[in-house]
Amino acid sequence: MKRLFTFAVCASIATMVTSGAAYADANAGKSLFEGAGKCANCHNISDKKKVGPGLAEITKRATEDWLKKWLKDPPAVWNAGDDYTKKLKETMKKVDKPKPAHTTRPLSDQEVADLMDYMKTL
Ligand code: HEC
Repeated sequence: MKRLFTFAVCASIATMVTSGAAYADANAGKSLFEGAGKCANCHNISDKKKVGPGLAEITKRATEDWLKKWLKDPPAVWNAGDDYTKKLKETMKKVDKPKPAHTTRPLSDQEVADLMDYMKTL
């Protein structure tokens, strides 16, 4: 019986570990935001502007689709200039300026998903 129990526990841990990567993780997003991603260098999580806009309630003002594209390739979003980006340019007073890379390095799909989950908590 004990052995069966051990097996069951191990099997469920293994399932959690192997399936874990498929899910976004707000905690991983938070550490990326504050650490290696350097997002916190330029963004407050309140509504106060730092280098970039404060990100409080960001997922309420921008769509998930826009945010994912922005995190993946900011210059492309900047140049495409949809309505939301136009507003952002106006608030940043950078209407005509071209956009250099926004993040310090390209983010993986998993990192984007984790950041999305974290930003939903702001
Ligand atoms: C070097 C400074 C800098 C870093 C680092 C940085 N950002 Fe930004 N971010 C900006 C600026 C500035 C803007 C506003 C657009 C512009 O002027 O380029 C912006 C815009 C944004 C927006 C859109 C805000 C809005 O109000 O629509 C989001 C979301 C965002 N950044 C998330 C992030 C995340 C997540 C990271 C880390 C992976 C990050 N940023 C790293 C400077 C930075």
